[in-house]
Amino acid sequence: MRIITTVATLHLHLNQLRKQGKSIGFSPTMGALHAGHSSLINEAKARKDYSVCSIFVNPTQFNQASDLQNYPRTLSDDVALLESLDNDLLFLPTVRSIYPATLKSIPDYDFGSLTQVLEGVYRPGHFTGVIQVMYRLLYLVQPNHLYMGLKDYQQQAIVRQLIEYAGLPTQLIPCPTVREEDGLAMSSRNKRLDAQQRNKAPLIYQVLQHAKAQTPHAIPTDIQTQAKHRLESEGFKVDYFEIVDSKTLLPITQFSDQSALACVAAWLGDVRLIDNLFLQ
Ligand code: PAJ
Repeated sequence: MRIITTVATLHLHLNQLRKQGKSIGFSPTMGALHAGHSSLINEAKARKDYSVCSIFVNPTQFNQASDLQNYPRTLSDDVALLESLDNDLLFLPTVRSIYPATLKSIPDYDFGSLTQVLEGVYRPGHFTGVIQVMYRLLYLVQPNHLYMGLKDYQQQAIVRQLIEYAGLPTQLIPCPTVREEDGLAMSSRNKRLDAQQRNKAPLIYQVLQHAKAQTPHAIPTDIQTQAKHRLESEGFKVDYFEIVDSKTLLPITQFSDQSALACVAAWLGDVRLIDNLFLQ
């Protein structure tokens, strides 16, 4: 696997590959890689892309300085995992190359409700940072395919919109959420759960599945109330459990033809977990 740290080398290398007619598949990450990340690389390889993975802990998307400081950094393990997956290129940019001092601004698009609901309410500024870094990374890598996880459903919906607004020649490939055997969505934050919290954490997925089993006969707001109550009675602090239209991410009040998605964010101690499931 080639490891590149500078923008100039990245350009040279990717331009050569483009001249050879190679399709470039890009999986942006913040490192601390696990099987959820691996699934993106595997998908890129399965599509015969030249697989580019980036690891960049983006400072602008953390709304708490402590969260940025505590973010796990496991570079040598990450490199070993990427090698085992036969990933082709690891891009490890510096903060200065993503945000050069000469960069005055990044296009500011109106994402409407997409950035304002769900995570947008509870993590102010987070999506502004995600949009900034994704704009820069997409500009630098110019991939044919962009691989993103449905675990962060709202994030991939916003990036899909960014690609359209900016007219980038990239196709977003959404990848299914990879789960532990007990249903807990894989996340680098899971490592911070103590044994008791780890035992409780799969309840999030069970509650999502129960919501799906009640669809389309129950009323969405009743499902939400029950789900929150169930989680809170087990010691979770629930930021939201919402049933939304998967296109607009706005709440739905009854099940009809539109595609309904249940989204949840809940705390166990000081660990915040998010998950989602298509109900119909
Ligand atoms: P990170 O949390 O490292 O996630 C990188 C990618 O892996 C995202 O597309 C995310 O949705 C996907 N992913 C994480 N856990 C997954 C799982 N259990 N199943 C499937 N996919 C999973 O998300 C970010 O980094 C950053 O915000 C980033 C997009 C890199 C911008 O900084």
